[in-house]
This record gives sequence, C-alpha cells and structure tokens, in this order.
Amino acid sequence: MSPQLEIRRLTYADLPQVIAIERRAFPTPWSLAMFVLELSKPSGICLAALRNGRIVGYLVCSRYDTVWHLMNVAVDERLRREGIATALLEHLFERADRPGAQYTLEVRLSNDAAIPLYERFGFQSAGLRRGYYHDNKEDALIMWRTVAGDREAADEAAATA
Ligand SMILES: CC(C)(COP(=O)(O)OP(=O)(O)OC[C@H]1O[C@@H](n2cnc3c(N)ncnc32)[C@H](O)[C@@H]1OP(=O)(O)O)[C@@H](O)C(=O)NCCC(=O)NCCS
Repeated sequence: MSPQLEIRRLTYADLPQVIAIERRAFPTPWSLAMFVLELSKPSGICLAALRNGRIVGYLVCSRYDTVWHLMNVAVDERLRREGIATALLEHLFERADRPGAQYTLEVRLSNDAAIPLYERFGFQSAGLRRGYYHDNKEDALIMWRTVAGDREAADEAAATA
C-alpha cells in the first residue's frame, strides 16, 4: 500500500521542493518569482501534496473576477499514476465548487496525461490558442468546467469567498 497522502495549503517554505519538481516536469518551468506571486494572491488556492513530509505534487489555481484559472499542476515523475493529481483536484473542487462556478485552463495539445485527467473531472474542450507555447509554438487546448447550478449565486459566493 502507498504511504498516506497529505494535502494542505502550499507555503513559501515549500517552494524549493516545488521548483525541483517543476523544472523536471515542464520544458518552460515557472520561475520562483511566479510561484511567489501566485502565493501572495489572497483569493487563490495553492495546494501541496506530501508523502512522508516530502512534497510530491502541487497545484496553483487563481481567481480572476468570478472564474477560477487552473494555472499549474504537477506531480513528481517517480510517483505518477498513483492518484496524486486526482487528490489535489478533488481538494480544489471541495474548497471552491459552488453552484454555477466556472474553471478554465490551457493545456498543450500533446499532453496525453493531463487532458484525460481534466476530462475525468468534467473539463470540456472549448477551442485552441494557436502557437500559445513559445518554446515550440504548440497550440494550447482551452478547457472549461462548469458546476451545475445558478450562475448569479456563484458570482455572489465567489465575491465573498
Ligand atoms: C498530468 C499529471 C499532473 C498527472 O498526475 P498524476 O498524479 O500522475 O495523475 P493521476 O494518477 O491522478 O491520474 C488520474 C487519471 O489521469 C489520467 N492520466 C494520468 N496520467 C496519464 C498518462 N500518462 N496517460 C494517460 N492518462 C493519464 C488517467 O485517466 C488517470 O487515471 P488512471 O491512472 O486510473 O488511468 C502528471 O503527469 C504531471 O505532472 N505531468 C507533467 C506536468 C504537466 O503536464 N502538468 C499539466 C499541465 S496543464
């Protein structure tokens, strides 16, 4: 059985471990400054997944107006397909889901791991941003997830969350 997974808020002290995973996970990794900026936003939700006290994955989600933007999610490459990203997303939605709430994200069209993961949570494709990724000019797939329910109630809830 895999050791237990702990999910908690991401902190500044976690960032050295996060950066190490980030650099291995992405061709154009976020800088430390980008993580610091996201952590400084009071309306965002940033989560860490830990095993035996060590960071094994993380997620960054920002709110712009009433829409949640899933900005970053990654898992240590030695521990993939063990449900860590799933656990992070479940925690995010437990915290942020309200009737009518909306989430969006961009993902590389070639990302055969992330796209099925997002689809499992109800994200649907909603077009492409052509040449969005500067390193190889790859297109981004834009995905949206909307929680069933009343949009106006969601806007009010988001404004007070
Ligand atoms: C995408 C990523 C975060 C998934 O993390 P993970 O912890 O391995 O994901 P999970 O174990 O929770 O997978 C849940 C489901 O997603 C899908 N999935 C995940 N990895 C997959 C893969 N390599 N191929 C196909 N489907 C995959 C499957 O449906 C999987 O369920 P299953 O294992 O029961 O078949 C991880 O591969 C990663 O860090 N990739 C590099 C960074 C990245 O691309 N982030 C997304 C940027 S938009």
